[in-house]
Amino acid sequence: MKLLVTGGAGYIGSHVVRAAEAAGHSIVVVDDLSTGVTARIDSEFVHLDLSSETAQLTLENLMRKHEFDSVIHLAARKQVGQSVEQPERYYLDNIGGLANLLLAMRNSNLKSLVFSSSAATYGMPDVDSVTEDYPGVPINPYGETKLIGEWMVKNAKVWGLKGVNLRYFNVAGCAVPELNDTAPLNLIPIAIAALKAGKSPIVFGEDYPTADGSCIRDYVHVSDLAAAHVSAVDYLTQSERPFDTFNVGTGTGASVFEVLAELKIASGIDFEVSVGPRRAGDPPKLVANVSRIEKVLGFSAKHNLKDIVKSAWDAS
Ligand code: WQD
Repeated sequence: MKLLVTGGAGYIGSHVVRAAEAAGHSIVVVDDLSTGVTARIDSEFVHLDLSSETAQLTLENLMRKHEFDSVIHLAARKQVGQSVEQPERYYLDNIGGLANLLLAMRNSNLKSLVFSSSAATYGMPDVDSVTEDYPGVPINPYGETKLIGEWMVKNAKVWGLKGVNLRYFNVAGCAVPELNDTAPLNLIPIAIAALKAGKSPIVFGEDYPTADGSCIRDYVHVSDLAAAHVSAVDYLTQSERPFDTFNVGTGTGASVFEVLAELKIASGIDFEVSVGPRRAGDPPKLVANVSRIEKVLGFSAKHNLKDIVKSAWDAS
């Protein structure tokens, strides 16, 4: 099929593009290059900010020209802390960008969309394993934009849109070094950058109600996440689609200390770990229940935490 991938020059987007091409799809990428890198992609590329005034018309023309079968929408800002500081920027880019995309799709009769959502839609769940019907309340503007985005996708059913929301848990690792996550904004790249700078990684709090006191997350390899997008595109071609929202994780949690222990093995460095104060807004535990995506999409993650940390270290 012919796919439009927004944000396809990004860390996650470029993995999705490669996986979709490997599955036989042809791709056009749209990206504003705010964090994306064109060196990561070899497909047709259009430089575009989806929240810009010209975005809707540019997208419509592109859609009429290429007659895409589906859109994978990844382009968005995703830094939780930044979203607290600059909420308007997040509403403009994440919600405004999606609105322009949906208007363009509606006007060019393009009715298939995979939407990049997030576990941040759950806020601070008080369950060990989060299912998609958990009544989450986002606790930051980033998470709000992803939940609102899911509502926008759902409401577009009125003009026939077939949409699916993928709620990413903690994405990390890389398929090949050139696609590595170079932005030190999440635990594993932050810890690796600290080591490379001769510093100790910092654990944000060790007094949480968990086995070792540090927060637990569901780390999923970006290659597995990319594969889930290919499955989601196929799912949208089916007439029977019982669900429109799926967690993408492993179903297994790992604490910060456990991640850093894997980093010691991958790096061969028995580094010191510093413990700092808690970070505001961190839920003690956020682990996906993945039974729905396994049952309905036939998807399960193939990579474990060791693979994730090793691939990130080897690429650094
Ligand atoms: C993971 C754990 C930190 C850095 C965010 C977004 C979420 C999703 C994934 C997009 C936490 C701890 C971190 C450090 C630490 N993104 N930590 N020392 O906050 O779980 O989720 O990224 O969809 O939407 O919210 O990821 O990597 O920032 O933190 O101890 O130097 O590591 O406290 O417990 P997070 P993270």
